[in-house]
Amino acid sequence: MSLYLVSVWLHLLAAIAWIGGMLFMSLVLIPVMRQRGDSQLAASLIGPVGRRFRSMSWLLLAVLVLTGLVNASYRGVALSSYVDPQFWAGRFGSLLAVKLLVFVAMLGLSVAHDFFIGPRARTVAAGESNPSEAEVYRRWATRLGRLNLALGLIIVAIAVALARP
Ligand code: HEM
Repeated sequence: MSLYLVSVWLHLLAAIAWIGGMLFMSLVLIPVMRQRGDSQLAASLIGPVGRRFRSMSWLLLAVLVLTGLVNASYRGVALSSYVDPQFWAGRFGSLLAVKLLVFVAMLGLSVAHDFFIGPRARTVAAGESNPSEAEVYRRWATRLGRLNLALGLIIVAIAVALARP
């Protein structure tokens, strides 16, 4: 099997694991936790699950960038193409540009969600001194998580068009 096929395989696996994980969190784990109405159980489970998924998803995003660059090189994108305006004006270049822009927006949201809003929601909830403030952070963490999932789905849609000239 060529390096190209291995790279596309890894790229797809990383996308599946990352988006599948987000879908599981937002469609299965969090709704089930809410239905149970047990805030202590939710806090004891969602925190560790979120932290473990966070480490996994940053590793997956790194795999996506590395294998994405290898895939692009096998599709004839030389390093010099990245500074060539003509490349970005073509069909492949413009689709890749949109994909990378959405990807960068998603990275920004992930940083906000994983390192600021999410941990803050957990700290405030653990203190229990201000439940309404904890609720505000929790809602924002949920919104950012959903938005990230939506951006991930948009990236996959662009990727499908990118791979089919
Ligand atoms: C720096 C970031 C990225 C680059 C440079 C990149 C580049 C590429 C390239 C060149 C292909 C075509 C592969 C082929 O030759 O068939 C591809 C396919 C694909 N990419 Fe990415 N990618 C990046 C990030 C992502 C991310 C974050 C996701 C997921 C959310 C993703 C999902 C996919 C999928 C699902 C395909 C397969 C599409 C298909 O065969 O229909 N990529 N990517």
